[in-house]
Amino acid sequence: MTGMSEVLVLGATSMVGSHFVKYGNLRCSVIGQDDPRRAGLSVERFERVDLDDRVALLQALDRSAEPVIVNFAAKTNVDLVERERPPMGASPSGTAWTVNALAPELIAAQARSSGRLFVQISTDFVFDGRGGPYSETDPRSELSPGLSWYGWTKSEGERRARDAYPATVLVRIAYPYRSGFSSKTDVARWIVERSMEGSLPPLYADQQISPTWIPDVTAAVVRIVRSGRRGTFHVASPLITSPFEFGTELLRWVSGHHAEAVPGLFPVDGTDPTRAPRPRCGGLRTHATEGAGFHLTSWKDGARALAREEGWVR
Ligand SMILES: NC(=O)c1ccc[n+]([C@@H]2O[C@H](COP(=O)([O-])OP(=O)(O)OC[C@H]3O[C@@H](n4cnc5c(N)ncnc54)[C@H](OP(=O)(O)O)[C@@H]3O)[C@@H](O)[C@H]2O)c1
Repeated sequence: MTGMSEVLVLGATSMVGSHFVKYGNLRCSVIGQDDPRRAGLSVERFERVDLDDRVALLQALDRSAEPVIVNFAAKTNVDLVERERPPMGASPSGTAWTVNALAPELIAAQARSSGRLFVQISTDFVFDGRGGPYSETDPRSELSPGLSWYGWTKSEGERRARDAYPATVLVRIAYPYRSGFSSKTDVARWIVERSMEGSLPPLYADQQISPTWIPDVTAAVVRIVRSGRRGTFHVASPLITSPFEFGTELLRWVSGHHAEAVPGLFPVDGTDPTRAPRPRCGGLRTHATEGAGFHLTSWKDGARALAREEGWVR
């Protein structure tokens, strides 16, 4: 223990968390499987822990003393996680359940007993997308065949963390994208890369999304850490769009040879058994978060900023 770091981060190597560690300008210690220093991140201390191992997680939390814990860690591959869905009524099990639902509960309980601030990163997938966009106070969806198992495990992570420690801060994000991260392809880079390869499929024109510019997440979490603010925050584009509209805007900024976006229709649930259900009429409303003074980037401004940072600009 260094006693110097300000924040204990879980999921520091993640697409979203690594931006916070790199640009948040806070001294971070890290619990996780992969050493973030191998990805070029500068951290005060790293402790290797598999979040599937509750005893190891609890011991690592007990050894730490940072006044704030931020949890970005999750099993995020929605289609892979779907394979862990138990039959309706059976007890949940599997890594996604442990990492996404049980670990936040355990972290929250430890944060409460040690008097620390706990920030849990969550997702618009806690809503089934039948009546979005959703506000910060809308109730999470019930478990149903129309809600992905990923969405349910994250929803249970939120609920259990709040039950264990009502002061837990929830930060929900949606379809996050950023520049300068090659280990995982986000929605924006996927569209641009597929378009450049000439293999871009039709993009859904009838799906509502509110993509999150990842630098906004870093700024929001830093603000929460510094102010000790509590509540539920939606860090996402304040304007709703569709994958087709977002893709069209992104490709407007791309120089060189590439295919234009063409509109497609969101698949009817169940037509592709390898694909987990996703919210169709989704998206996050951000009025309360903006009202609390958080700056959020609209999808158009984010597309332009991404293109500039990636050097795609015409
Ligand atoms: N990507 C999206 O589209 C999206 C959308 C909405 C919300 N979110 C939320 O945003 C957060 C970050 O997502 P992301 O896409 O940036 O994540 P990501 O790139 O998929 O990274 C996942 C992170 O979780 C950690 N992790 C997973 N299993 C672990 C285990 N068993 N033990 C320890 N650490 C483990 C990984 O650490 P190791 O490398 O050390 O295993 C990694 O840092 C998550 O909470 C996610 O639910 C993501």
